[in-house]
Amino acid sequence: MIGRGLPNGKEMRLLIAGNWKMNGLSGALDEVRAVVAALKACPASVDVLICPPATLIGPVGAEAGATVAVGGQDCHPKPSGAFTGDIAAEMLRDAGASWTIVGHSERRQYHGETDELVAAKTLAGWRAGLKVIICIGETEAERVAGREEAVVDRQLATSVPDGSTASNMAIAYEPVWAIGTGRTPTNDDIGRMHAHIRAVLVKRFGAAGQAIDILYGGSVNPRNACEILAVKDVGGALVGGASLKAADFLAIIGAAPAA
Ligand code: 13P
Repeated sequence: MIGRGLPNGKEMRLLIAGNWKMNGLSGALDEVRAVVAALKACPASVDVLICPPATLIGPVGAEAGATVAVGGQDCHPKPSGAFTGDIAAEMLRDAGASWTIVGHSERRQYHGETDELVAAKTLAGWRAGLKVIICIGETEAERVAGREEAVVDRQLATSVPDGSTASNMAIAYEPVWAIGTGRTPTNDDIGRMHAHIRAVLVKRFGAAGQAIDILYGGSVNPRNACEILAVKDVGGALVGGASLKAADFLAIIGAAPAA
């Protein structure tokens, strides 16, 4: 993947990932069909991933074929067992997923997930042969207190396992206060934080840390995607609300710098 010579210092193909969260009944497959048809007609210069609810992983995969990758939104650390309502990484893989998200702030906030649990879920994803998007990011109170780098440092140190490479994971930096609010950090702030995360990854993983994708997430939409995706060290986007409508998601995909 290295050496594609993208503008803005980017060397890797960007990843545009849609996180549908708890949205989507079978009617939503129309949106997937529209995305796939558009990308077949005009192939994207980025990698595209959709993470629907687990109930739709199979059907989305059937529509997506090789054009769009499919992922889960969470997984349990164990491969099977008496964990009512949970889903194993192996089940995601069996349903057709090639990725899963872990450590989303909504899991951390509403399900009390710790950094250690997020690391265990990442290892579970790898065990099942999935690539993993590990989410990190500070709350508004933490940013106001000037603690955003300290929070991200702690999350990186404890949520991201040894053995992380660009082939088995990506980071998603999602400031909690930017999720679903229509507010985003300035492009300078995004650039500063992504450079900081890059430095932490390189210090820990050496050359492998240089290649790891660092996605930005939080209120990415068709109007701001072009500027955000052009920021140095932004390796793609993790998109919530705007990934639910094919037209918006395609506009974001189209906003990525061309390879
Ligand atoms: P929004 O794009 O809706 O702000 O959500 C971002 C997010 O949480 C993606 O994981």
